[in-house]
Amino acid sequence: MKRREFLGMTVAGMGSFLPACGGGGGGGSMMGGPAQAPRAALAAGQPLRTLPTLANTATQAGHFAGALEAAPASLALVDGATTALWLYNGLLPGPLVEVREGDRVRIALGNRLAIDSTVHWHGLPVPADQDGNPMDPVAPGASRVYEFDIPSGTAGTYWYHPHAHGTTAEQVSRGLAAPFIVRAASDPLAGIPEVTMLVTGIRLDGSGQVSPNGPMDFTVGRQGEQLLVNGGRLPVHTVRPGETQRWRILNATSAHYLRLALDGHAFTLVGTDGGLLGAPVGPLGEILVAPAQRVEVVVTASATPGARFVLRALRHATDSMGMGVYATEELLTLSTTTDPAVAAFPLPATLRPVAEPGTGAARKRLALTQSGMGMMGGMFGFLINGRAFDMNRVDLVSTAGETESWDIVNDTLMDHPIHIHGTQFQLVSRESAGRVTAAPYRAWIDTVDVPAGTTATIRVRQDLPGKRMVHCHILEHEDAGMMAVLEVRRA
Ligand code: C2O
Ligand code: CU
Ligand code: CU
Repeated sequence: MKRREFLGMTVAGMGSFLPACGGGGGGGSMMGGPAQAPRAALAAGQPLRTLPTLANTATQAGHFAGALEAAPASLALVDGATTALWLYNGLLPGPLVEVREGDRVRIALGNRLAIDSTVHWHGLPVPADQDGNPMDPVAPGASRVYEFDIPSGTAGTYWYHPHAHGTTAEQVSRGLAAPFIVRAASDPLAGIPEVTMLVTGIRLDGSGQVSPNGPMDFTVGRQGEQLLVNGGRLPVHTVRPGETQRWRILNATSAHYLRLALDGHAFTLVGTDGGLLGAPVGPLGEILVAPAQRVEVVVTASATPGARFVLRALRHATDSMGMGVYATEELLTLSTTTDPAVAAFPLPATLRPVAEPGTGAARKRLALTQSGMGMMGGMFGFLINGRAFDMNRVDLVSTAGETESWDIVNDTLMDHPIHIHGTQFQLVSRESAGRVTAAPYRAWIDTVDVPAGTTATIRVRQDLPGKRMVHCHILEHEDAGMMAVLEVRRA
């Protein structure tokens, strides 16, 4: 479809969908404008919460054992109402799992929801049958144990969330998401105070309830959410003047691209999805964190005592149709105390070696295309190599241990963050209108943003056999079928 024809169709089709958007509750960032529909306001400005960790009940060193329960729960988020949510262990967001490289992990999931669920360990190289695939559902009332090892070299910032067939977006939007941090025995940044900031979105209707996804959400991704950091709205993070900190920032929203900028400050990027970079990158005025991605940044706070600075998600357009535009939003306030300034922490020149994924001539091409009518009521659908998800079909085949180059070609009018389960990979280059731009530095990622009209070339290797999901991490796109099955076969 040509762009012009497509736009004509969109404008004609939009009138009937706009009023339905957000179920009357959201719509805040629709078209990039201010909130039009009333929405229940969350109390803002509380201190940034430290996320509770999942208790380790293992008695042996080198083991982590824990229990998660996914269950309905109600929280008082807005005045005069309690909000019905689905939470892990009653927490919004769920408990932080913290393990060490080399650990043997055993985590039980009890599913107290009325629908199938799973736990997917996003970004970790866990065996395929332990990775919470949609083909391994945990039925309502049932439970199972996930068991896997944490290999050395995987220290980094990950997360976990449900991956049940067709309901991932709903389960995450009702509160099921949480961070998972792997620590290395020796960390070049040990000694720098560390803060985890998990960004999620919540969209409440006028009565304070989470509004379901509608056709527009399944088209361009969930719109009109209020952003939360560690479950709080516009929290205040207080530091000593001049203090250097390491922030692990996770984008656990379903669709919101976070173009982060902090007033009066620059970021030094030290890590991505799969852990530390080879060397610090910066200073950077802004960093784009696509849905599902994580960054580790080092921030040295202003030496001015008693000052306040706002961390924002800057305006970002995710399509060329004007439908998925996220307006600038405030995320968090950085506040300096009135104490005397402390000295900044000097960063090492190098962090850790980031090897090439290996050589190998195998190539794959993934064509992302747009179809006329989408599943789940979307105005159109998004396909991978011409097909919508079918868990009983194998779409791609790889050999364990073999490095491949993938060209991910985005022939749609929207940006898509493409995620591959079970491994970390590297972006080699992006191509747009014949211009190739090499990746500026080597980094381990599990999700690559592929903007509309561009091709991303990655180098990827899977080491474990089994079926892996490849999908867009705009969760509404995933649920509407923008997902493929990669079967990794033993060499
Ligand atoms: Cu974050 Cu298929 O997952
Ligand atoms: Cu994943
Ligand atoms: Cu998508």
